[in-house]
Amino acid sequence: MKILAINGSHRKGKNTAAMLQAVLEEAARAGAETELVELTDYQIKPCQACNRCLGKTECSIKDDDMAKLGEKMLAADGIVLGSPVYWANVTGLMKNFIDRTRWMHMAKNMLHGKVGGAVTHAGLRNGGQEQALNIMNRFLAAQGLFVVDTRNQEGGIYNGGAMGTMFNDLREGRPSWKKGVHEDTLAMEECRRLGRNMVEMIKRLGNG
Ligand SMILES: Cc1cc2nc3c(=O)[nH]c(=O)nc-3n(C[C@H](O)[C@H](O)[C@H](O)COP(=O)(O)O)c2cc1C
Repeated sequence: MKILAINGSHRKGKNTAAMLQAVLEEAARAGAETELVELTDYQIKPCQACNRCLGKTECSIKDDDMAKLGEKMLAADGIVLGSPVYWANVTGLMKNFIDRTRWMHMAKNMLHGKVGGAVTHAGLRNGGQEQALNIMNRFLAAQGLFVVDTRNQEGGIYNGGAMGTMFNDLREGRPSWKKGVHEDTLAMEECRRLGRNMVEMIKRLGNG
């Protein structure tokens, strides 16, 4: 069983990467082989909207790294996306990546039957995390993946998904900030739960 994490943060190895690592560490504990991909390491040109992918399972842009990412996605049983919130949305990097996966969807749903999940991180407490998460989960569902979330059936804890925030609280009217997502115990637990839920779903589907 293989789970691939894809980080759309423009900052490699920061909060969103830490959340994805937590998902993967827990999935690895449950027996999965894991890999974290940082989109900043890959050249991804914008979709040209040529519509080649309407008739064929291929993209007309060949001179960038998108084919490598496609291979990794096709080889995975589970895919977990991570993006910080930029303007109550995913990052430009993540959106560019999403657009370029259209060849895996239009002529044939090539990712159908895999398991998907998503995590997000933002500065503010209500900074658009739910919107960014919904955008990624909607994309995964449209690509034919079975999307799982962070519900904890035993404990009943459900935060709406794996959503981190830097905001801590107001101190004498001024915001104070966490040092990083490692201080966001709820978000980190939701990430670990997502890892466990993804492995469980992959097993239930008889994949991996
Ligand atoms: C261009 C830009 C737009 C942002 N927009 C938002 C926003 O709408 N809401 C919010 O709470 N934080 C926003 N942020 C803050 C990031 O979500 C936050 O710094 C996050 O922790 C970055 O994740 P990273 O550590 O993985 O890079 C924005 C940051 C940037 C650079």
